[in-house]
Order: sequence, then structure tokens, then C-alpha cells
Amino acid sequence: MKTDVKFETLKSLEAELLVVLAADASTSKDKNAAAEPALLTNDATVAGADKPALKSGEFSASTGETLLLHAPAELKARRLLIVGVGKAAKLSLPEIRKAAGVAVRFAKPRKIRQVTFVLPEHDGLDLAAAARAAVEGAFVGDFDPDTYKSDRKDRSIEQFTVVVPVSADKKSVEAAFREGVILGESQNFTRALVNEPGNRLTPTILGERAAAMCKEQGLPCEVYSTDKIKELKMGAFWAVAQGSDEPPALIVMRYEPKDADKEGPVLALVGKGITFDTGGISIKPADGMEKMKYDMAGGAAMIGAMRAIAQLKPKVRVIGIVCSAENMPSGKAYKPGDVAIAMSGKAIEVLNTDAEGRMVLADGLHYAKQLGATHLIDAATLTGACVVALGMVNAGVFANDEDSYEHFRKALAISGERFWRLPVEDEYREMIVSHIGDITNTGGSRYGGAITAAMFLKEFVDETPWLHLDIAGVAWVDDPKPWISKGPSGVAVRSIVEWARSYEG
Ligand code: BES
Ligand code: ZN
Ligand code: ZN
Repeated sequence: MKTDVKFETLKSLEAELLVVLAADASTSKDKNAAAEPALLTNDATVAGADKPALKSGEFSASTGETLLLHAPAELKARRLLIVGVGKAAKLSLPEIRKAAGVAVRFAKPRKIRQVTFVLPEHDGLDLAAAARAAVEGAFVGDFDPDTYKSDRKDRSIEQFTVVVPVSADKKSVEAAFREGVILGESQNFTRALVNEPGNRLTPTILGERAAAMCKEQGLPCEVYSTDKIKELKMGAFWAVAQGSDEPPALIVMRYEPKDADKEGPVLALVGKGITFDTGGISIKPADGMEKMKYDMAGGAAMIGAMRAIAQLKPKVRVIGIVCSAENMPSGKAYKPGDVAIAMSGKAIEVLNTDAEGRMVLADGLHYAKQLGATHLIDAATLTGACVVALGMVNAGVFANDEDSYEHFRKALAISGERFWRLPVEDEYREMIVSHIGDITNTGGSRYGGAITAAMFLKEFVDETPWLHLDIAGVAWVDDPKPWISKGPSGVAVRSIVEWARSYEG
């Protein structure tokens, strides 16, 4: 998708599909009160073109709602698409992001390949942030997961243009827009990885993909396998990897800007890269198991984040680590009751081989510290319990450090992604004490499962500031929306990148 930003009035604009937003200006709290759809542009030519349509009562400007007009009078555009954004009083960047996705997803099946998106004019709206949100949303909408359809017709949008009111500050809008392009592309890069089935994305192939990305972006990258994992004494990672005929991959990507403060922080992004999770000997039920190809979404988010960081060039050092393996049952697989000695020396009693994500991350987090990380963030499709707690709307975030969390909270305000904080408290640690070794790999009960998983990881970070993102419920979209298809969401990429940028010194 090619992208462009223009500062123009709409009257003389040539466009295949001109997209204008509309909000419900009604302030009535009565749910049955009629909506008052109002265009979010002061451009008189558009207002003239669609007055009858807006007055018809057929369109209420609710989020995701669309209204199409052909050959609009007074405009050069071939079509005018009005996209609803809900209540005017609530207009926010996430609504603009969604509206751009809606416009793109409206165009795709209709074989319209060019979308011209008019930024709304609204009191207090930061036009630079809005331009960025719009192009991010367009990339989100442009992604479809149908890669393996034999009769696939690529209906990607060729050109997405954002039109900004001429009064805007050009420089800041253009800069924000460029950031949005980088983030949107990187999010879709992650989604393409997550979409791949287990037979076509083994740990080795994931390593190759990461290495290819790093080469393209000029980042140093090493991909290790069995020998190095054994040499480093990563007993927890290896416990999982040993059950598969596919060798594991330990991916290490580095971003080392010359202008970074040498005394400054070193951030490590650590991702769970289980390319398929059968559960191992504690095997999962067959129903829905196919979805476990997305169990590498945390790792893919880190690879996508490193791609964006390489292009955005913040002045801070970042290391990306992905622990990739397949979790399989076999004659060589680890078993319930086994004891694995992690790289840190801690003895882990395995109670359930399906709690494999925390095993590989235990060694990934410890290794990150050994490589000099001062701040850690991990992302993983870690627990079904997190899905039970938060559903498919919010992901979970855990923190052992208020300052790190504050950086993340600010990052969320920019990314628009939804994470809900869950507790990290000593009382939960009692649930993972082992009578034979140091800790068990599950809490033993279903209660608080997302938290006991986080407590397990905390054992391997000690005092280092650390954030843990449990994205199990939101990394895969089951119910498509007008702005996003079914399939991988690419969640966490944008937030992790913003978090990393916030340490720029
Ligand atoms: N990959 C799963 C978690 C998961 C569940 C991701 C649903 C996406 C959707 C993880 O490895 C797992 O199986 N966790 C177990 C832990 C349990 C055995 C303590 C779980 O959540 O059931
Ligand atoms: Zn599992
Ligand atoms: Zn898993």
C-alpha cells in the first residue's frame, strides 16, 4: 500500500473514493432519541453533496456505519463515502483509526484500489496524531489472512491518501504520518508471521524470517539452535524444545544506535515463539487446537517492534530476543513430574507440559539480563486464564516497577491499544512453591492462572524493572469487525515501540 499526505481543499480533489467522517451530534441521553448525523468537515462542497442523504434518517453515524454516494455533485471525486464515528463528543484517535480501517475494508471487496481519507475538523483534535492514527488504521484494515487461497485475488489498496486541512502545521503532520506508516507496516509484518501455519513456520523458519528482516533494516542478528541452548544451560527452554523433531531457535536481534547514551538504559524485548502448542504430554483437546499456531504471536510482536525501531531510530539501545520451539508430545518430550534446571540455576518442577511458554521465557528473560538489559518487557500468548479474566478486549499487563509501568501507560495513550493491569503480589507466590525443587510451572489450581504465570516469570527477572504482556485473548481476532479482519491482530507492536521510544535519552 502506497501512502501519501496532502494539504488541500476538497472541491478540486480527484479521487476514486473520497472518505469523510460523520458523527452523531445529538447530546440526548435517551437511547431512543433520533441521531443527528453531522459531517466532520467544514468543506461546503461536501456538505452540499450529501445533505439529503444525511437528513434521510437512514444513517445514524454509529461506529463503522457507512453511506456511499456516487458522482457527488460539486465534487471531482467519483464516489463519496461517509463513515460514522459515533458520538461527536467522544471523538478520539481510536475512532479515527477504526474509521480509516472501515474505509479500506469497504473499498477492498468492491475492487476500489484508491482511498482518499479526509481528516476530521474537530475542536481540540491534534491533526498530526490524527494523521498518524488514520494511516495506522488503514494498514490494519488492509490486511487479510487469505494467503493460501488458490484463487486469491490480491485486493490490497494501492494508494491511501490522507487529506489534512490546509491550516495544519505541515511539518509535524508529515512527521507523524511517516511514523504511522512505519508502525502500520510493522504491525502487518507481525500479522503475516502469526498467520503462518505451524508446518510453514517452524522455529528455524521464524529465525530465518527474523534474520532477513534484520538484514533489510541493518540490524545485527544471531539465530542459535540446540547446541547454543545447551551450552548456555537453558534447561527450561530445552525441556520444551526436546520433544520436537524441529530444532528450536534462539533469536537475538540488536539495535545499537551510535548516538545512544552509553550509560543509558538497555531495553530487552523478550517474546514467546511457540510455533505450535499441542500442550505436549499434557495434550490439549482437539477442538480448536489448530489455533495454537498463533502461540508465537509474542515473539512475532518483538520482531515487528524491532523492525519499527530500526526505522524510527530512537536514541536508546534495544535487544530483541525470541525463544522459539514447538511444544510436542513424543518419546523425547518432557513429562509432568520432570525437573528442569533453568539457566539461572532455579529448579523447576513441571506439573503441566502445556505451561511451556513460561519455561522458554524463563531462560529468555535471564539471558536478556546477562546480555546487559536494564529494563525488560515480555509478550506472550501465555494463559487461557488471562482470556477468562479479560475476554478478547483487553490484554493483561503486569509490572514489578511503577516507573516502567508509567512509561507503558503513556505508550498506550499513543498506541490506542488496550491493556489492563493485573497484580504482581507475593501472596500469589505461595501457589508455585515446589516441595521437590524451587518452583512449579503451574499454580496447581485454575484460580488466578494469569497471575501465577506472571509470578513464575518474576522469579527470573529478580529486581530488574519488568513488564509482562499476556496477549492470549487479543492476538487473534475471532469475530471480525468492519475495520479488522478475522485472524492475527498484531497487538502489542505499537505499544512496545512507543514504550521503547519513551526511554530515548
Ligand atoms: N498457549 C497457551 C495459552 C493460550 C490459551 C493462548 C488460549 C491462547 C489462547 C499456553 O501455553 C497454555 O496452554 N497455558 C495453559 C497453562 C495451564 C496448563 C497452567 C492454560 O492456559 O491452560
Ligand atoms: Zn501450552
Ligand atoms: Zn502456549
